[in-house]
Amino acid sequence: MRVLVSGGAGYIGSVVTELLLARGDSVVVVDSLITGHRSSIQPNVEFVHLDIRDGERLERLLHDRGIEAVVHMAAISLVGDSVREPGLYYQNNVVGTLSLLEALRRAQVLKLVFSSTAAVYGEPARVPIREEDPTLPTSPYGSTKLAMEQAMHWYDRAYGLRYAALRYFNAAGATVLHGEDHRPETHLIPRVLQAILHSHPLTIFGDDYPTRDGTGVRDYVHVLDLADAHLRALDALDRGSAVYNLGCGGEGFTVREVLDAARVITGRPIPLTVGPRRAGDPAVLIASSDKIRRELGWKPQYESLEAMVGSAWSWMLAHPHGYGTES
Ligand code: UD1
Repeated sequence: MRVLVSGGAGYIGSVVTELLLARGDSVVVVDSLITGHRSSIQPNVEFVHLDIRDGERLERLLHDRGIEAVVHMAAISLVGDSVREPGLYYQNNVVGTLSLLEALRRAQVLKLVFSSTAAVYGEPARVPIREEDPTLPTSPYGSTKLAMEQAMHWYDRAYGLRYAALRYFNAAGATVLHGEDHRPETHLIPRVLQAILHSHPLTIFGDDYPTRDGTGVRDYVHVLDLADAHLRALDALDRGSAVYNLGCGGEGFTVREVLDAARVITGRPIPLTVGPRRAGDPAVLIASSDKIRRELGWKPQYESLEAMVGSAWSWMLAHPHGYGTES
């Protein structure tokens, strides 16, 4: 299949691209490089430096390259940031996605896998969270993603767009080639490993939650399992549109459990402080992943913290400066 990956220079996009190439698909990556990294793009991929808000160029590209389907991951995704700068989030995530949807409609490329987020649920009504549970985002980030899920629903009704919206829980881990390099880094696992590597303290954001050890519980999913779900979703688009949670389910892991695993894997101590809760952080976020397991046969292969933290540590040791200074 000829697939265009928007945001293919990002953390998850680079791994989706890696798996598409490994199975023999041909891939065109488009990325604005605002948060993505040029050096994460593999040499056997055609890269086009493009902001998806340039709909005319995008449409030409879809035509010229004979693109059959799109995996759309280009977005900005920091919850706290989105509360401070909603305009930026609506510009990138809503205006950008609408520009892409219009280009797809004009070019008659009607297959789309979309990166959505657990942030569409806001404070969950119950855990594990099911796809049909209320969606009441508590941040502009979550609102922009939900708005685009709704837009895709209506594009399906009117224009026959077949889409899969994948609501990610907490992506983690790395492959040999690709790892996590956000600037600034806000996510727990890379922050813990950076704290170990550079001997600076890690702050636990609150240890007074009603959880098994007082710290926040999250549903971590290995980036390879996440990427595998994209390929399955892509292949199932002919059967119709769908929305899926993408987490491992189960009990999840607390912040302290992540710290313990990191201590064992690295064999090094972690300088720690306990600070106040981070605004907007729910106590527990766990997916019900029954639907994606049942309908797409998805089954995570790397559910353990050893696999997730271990692969992230290996990547960090091999790339102590991440993807470097270029972009
Ligand atoms: C964040 C986003 C979420 C997004 C996901 C993937 C927020 C509030 N949520 O999830 O919408 O889909 O990333 O991009 O930004 N923690 C610490 N100390 C730290 C960092 C984190 O204690 O230095 C704790 C947090 O309070 C939380 C857990 O670790 O309990 C995980 O945090 P993080 O990795 O930032 O992910 P989320 O906030 O769950």
